Amino acid sequence: MDEDARVADAEEVPADGTLLFTVRTADGEPAEAICSRLSDGTVVAYRNYCQHWTDVRLDKGDGARVTNGEVWCNKHGATFQLDTGYCDFGPCEGSVLETVDVTVVDGAVYVDDDDYAFAHRGPSGVDREEGGSRIDFTGN
Ligand code: FES
Repeated sequence: MDEDARVADAEEVPADGTLLFTVRTADGEPAEAICSRLSDGTVVAYRNYCQHWTDVRLDKGDGARVTNGEVWCNKHGATFQLDTGYCDFGPCEGSVLETVDVTVVDGAVYVDDDDYAFAHRGPSGVDREEGGSRIDFTGN
């Protein structure tokens, strides 16, 4: 794997929280992503925004809340299944987090996604990266 795509050692990725990192989109724009480890050791990654209000970050820099294999949005309590990204509770129930493909090779996690390139660990430094798209509580 390309060392420039290396996010972290797999053992650094928490199972009870998230590790925040920044990628670049095909347009070169920075975007935040989070990764977490499933109970079987698989590492998954998603873009770091809620599907309810897309300007709300799941991980604000100190790890998102993860319990029972689900990542929480603390704003209104939506929960997303970590293995699929599917929202099974909350105002955006039925939506799905946007996946960032990662792969683990020799104990290290790499971004392996044609749409994203790894930039750096930590936040992007962009406050409202999604431009504030919001749906109301009826799902509209
Ligand atoms: S912004 Fe995430 S549940 Fe409302």
